[in-house]
Amino acid sequence: MTSKNQGSAPIEKDEITPKHIYDSRRKFLKQMGIVGLGAALAGCVPEAASTSNPTQTEPTSVATLSGLTDELGNPLTDYSAITGYCNFYEFTTNKENVDELAEDFVPDPWSVEVSGLVNKPQTFSLADIMEKFDQQERIYRMRCVEGWSMVIPWNGFPLRQLLEEVEPTSEAKYVAFQTALLPEVMDGVNSGRFPFPYLEGLRLDEALNDLTLLATGLYNEPLRPQNGAPIRLVVPWKYGFKSIKSIVKISLVTDQPYTMWNTIAPQEYGFYANVNPDVDHPRWSQGTEIRIGENQRRDTLYMNGYADEVDYLYSGMDLTVYY
Ligand code: MTE
Repeated sequence: MTSKNQGSAPIEKDEITPKHIYDSRRKFLKQMGIVGLGAALAGCVPEAASTSNPTQTEPTSVATLSGLTDELGNPLTDYSAITGYCNFYEFTTNKENVDELAEDFVPDPWSVEVSGLVNKPQTFSLADIMEKFDQQERIYRMRCVEGWSMVIPWNGFPLRQLLEEVEPTSEAKYVAFQTALLPEVMDGVNSGRFPFPYLEGLRLDEALNDLTLLATGLYNEPLRPQNGAPIRLVVPWKYGFKSIKSIVKISLVTDQPYTMWNTIAPQEYGFYANVNPDVDHPRWSQGTEIRIGENQRRDTLYMNGYADEVDYLYSGMDLTVYY
């Protein structure tokens, strides 16, 4: 497992949620036309998302899907916002220019090593993955821990299918994931502010839930670099930071794996990270959110609205302790 800080500068508490998120608060409220409501809002709100980022060329498939909704009737978030307002700290902490900074990231060739407590360890090339696993379309609500959300039409396949290929042994209890570490194209990793590579993890039963996807595309287009090309995790009932991007390694392990955010600030970013309006982040409420493209806050749903599918995973657990 990766060392906690890889010899880089110690992480100051202020850096845990970047200052620009706070600095942008007034700008955001002003653009949303709700400056007067500022005091009533949570401590952390998103920057205004550009919904028409001129650097993004809209593929033709976007128009075909644009009238669709999720199962609760929520319209899809615009392609330009999904690809123009991203979190990918290996490039930058500025959500609005990840797309430009990630332009030189060409994830080809690519392979994903799947190893650890499995009977059949394998390294899959992206071509193997695309051939072996039928790509499905799934429209998911995604909720960022910072208080913004989107509705995204993903293309991908259940992680369960890949795990079945490698046959986890009976000792395997968790799944650990690792993002590529490419300092020559990912300039953000050279700042020493975060202990990259980005690591995430799920309990094995969470990983086997049908909602948990490995995504290779969105809006029927291959993933763009800024969204985690060529393959990323999507776990829609958990805060977005669990949905690790540009995966190169998946290991089956016995103990709860280290994850980047949970290691830096366990009191702020729990291992489970289930969307839960009743469990506040220590510095802001998680009761409401801004859906990108909308101009007023909406209530956040317990388990992001997926409780029927995932509640069984947490029976008997105190979710204020296992947040
Ligand atoms: N994965 C990596 N490797 N690096 C990151 O910085 N950010 C996470 C998650 N996966 C992140 C990551 C966070 S905080 C969120 S909200 C989602 O990616 C955002 O995904 P999106 O930019 O495609 O909407």
